[in-house]
Amino acid sequence: MPWEHPQNRLTQAVAKRAASGLPVIDLTETNPTRVGLPYPEEELAELLRRGAAPEYPPHPLGIRAAREALAAALSTPGDAVSPDDLVLTASTSESYSYLFKLFADPQDEVLTAAPSYPLLDSLAALDSLVLGHVHLAPGRGFALDPEAVELALSPRTRLLALIHPGNPTGRFLSAQERDAVDALCASRSLPLISDEVFADYSFLADPHRAGPAAASGEALSFSLGGLSKSAGLPSWKLGWIRVGGPPSLRRQALAALELVADSYLSVAIPVQRALAGVLALAPRIRAAILGRVRENLEVLRATLAGHPAAELLEPEGGWSAVLRVCKPISDEELVLELLDRAGVLVHPGYFFDFATEDFLVVSLLPEPTRFAEGVRRLAGYLEQGPR
Ligand SMILES: Cc1ncc(COP(=O)(O)O)c(C=O)c1O
Repeated sequence: MPWEHPQNRLTQAVAKRAASGLPVIDLTETNPTRVGLPYPEEELAELLRRGAAPEYPPHPLGIRAAREALAAALSTPGDAVSPDDLVLTASTSESYSYLFKLFADPQDEVLTAAPSYPLLDSLAALDSLVLGHVHLAPGRGFALDPEAVELALSPRTRLLALIHPGNPTGRFLSAQERDAVDALCASRSLPLISDEVFADYSFLADPHRAGPAAASGEALSFSLGGLSKSAGLPSWKLGWIRVGGPPSLRRQALAALELVADSYLSVAIPVQRALAGVLALAPRIRAAILGRVRENLEVLRATLAGHPAAELLEPEGGWSAVLRVCKPISDEELVLELLDRAGVLVHPGYFFDFATEDFLVVSLLPEPTRFAEGVRRLAGYLEQGPR
């Protein structure tokens, strides 16, 4: 890993603005605990208080009661989740890392789709792996082309990692796409990681959508989730891996994961003891977050409707929205100018590996009046010609 951390131009501009005391409307905020949402704080505190006993009954996969509560929370009609197929981790990032260690040697490859949240770049690098990308075309609604996935596989590809729904695209895989990917992975003995951290945040039901990868299929698969998104509690540091696929492969993978997890034992026992209670509170927190992102999405849609300079690429779920903008400058120049002229901060598409420079990403979490003012200024700025 590089030991130096050169700051990009946007980070420098934000720091300079903050030093000058100039206000910013931050449309990049994706931390749900910083946007004025209500949390059941007393109940959460009581759960931790009750879990705080010092006895230490470690279990590498997570204590049984916690996995049972999680299995019950993840089960849906027709998809009964077994606690024996679950592994608790300290975060989704750690879940990725366990799987990287399990399946790949240094310089092996993990294939993923772009555009995407840039987390996998550093996670892969930290396990000395090489990250490859299949590009999803905005013109095709970010649909996944299984043939392109197949073509992108190399002799060193050890894992396929797909995000469902995508961040920032907000697009879920269709059942058809997932079936094709599952068949490909099964035929190549390639394990599939399905990052489903945003799966609870869907804007409409769609019968053609794929369910959890670990629920069905022939390939060895790993559905990832965690409290950071599904309960809006990144500070609780609890994620999980649900293992799916043929029973013998699944058992082998669980045994190997148990060894990895046993080396770290990273999930705090008080959090595990509190898990059943947190999962019972989670629907309330999720409802507040979903209400917020829906409200802001509506405002974004309405504000941009009359502005041909920006097109909203409708998300199906998640916490972000992608805009295609029509300006004769790069996305980086655009966000710098927007910050300078309108005091609004958005993400340039290149942060997420968009193939071209005409995309912006906004978080749908910010406090609604600030969000509305931010997108109003953004639209106003885009209407003006370049400086
Ligand atoms: C798609 C995706 N996966 C995983 C993570 C990391 O989740 P965790 O906080 O559980 O490590 C993020 C964080 O934003 C994310 O966007």
